[in-house]
Amino acid sequence: MFDFEFEQTLIAPSILSADFLMLEEELGRIEDADLVHFDVMDGVFVPNLSYGPPVLKAVKRGTKLPVDVHLMIDKPDKRVDSYIDAGADIVTIHYESTNHAHRVIRRIRDRGAKAGIALNPATPVCMLDPLITEVDMVLLMSVDPGFGGQSFIDSTIPKIKQVRELCKHYHVNPWIEVDGGVDETNAGKISAAGANVLVAGSSVFGKDDCALAIRALREAGNIGNLRRI
Ligand code: DX5
Ligand code: ZN
Repeated sequence: MFDFEFEQTLIAPSILSADFLMLEEELGRIEDADLVHFDVMDGVFVPNLSYGPPVLKAVKRGTKLPVDVHLMIDKPDKRVDSYIDAGADIVTIHYESTNHAHRVIRRIRDRGAKAGIALNPATPVCMLDPLITEVDMVLLMSVDPGFGGQSFIDSTIPKIKQVRELCKHYHVNPWIEVDGGVDETNAGKISAAGANVLVAGSSVFGKDDCALAIRALREAGNIGNLRRI
């Protein structure tokens, strides 16, 4: 599965924006994507509730794509196992959600999944310094988490560049994912700054033709990659 070339922009549609009544058909509409983004919200860490391991199990049956689980939950420490048991390929926890990020990341990797660390828009990139060598992915939130359909926060762009600098410093190459308000108009500058995974909820599921929307995002991202310095 993780045999993508780094420079290719990967598209991860967020099924938070899908029609839950027809999840199987919705997964069929995004089969040209690279990952399925699965947003877990607990009503505590973020002011919204979504779904958990039983729905993840169903999603795994309905797609061949790797599933990228974004845990927006307080104290994920004891709960990552249930998502790995349900088939998560990548499990991302929030830096702000636990006092023991290092331990939780080790646990995810020991269980055989890829581990990601996410930062809210107000959390500075320097917080990643002790963790960057331990993760497979960094997720930068470009909206305050909790809802789909919000507007992209522009201060994410310099943060992407800072993550790249940090990675260079430590000679590591985690995926850099950006989540929130991503669409065809900003995918190029996000990729040019150094992100390689674009999460897209409303800009994919809000369109009649999801395959076309995915292609447009990927092309905008790949053009952005050519502008990367
Ligand atoms: C926000 C979620 C996002 C969201 C993205 O809390 O983490 O993944 O579903 O949706 P759009 O692309 O509509 O901002
Ligand atoms: Zn997300």
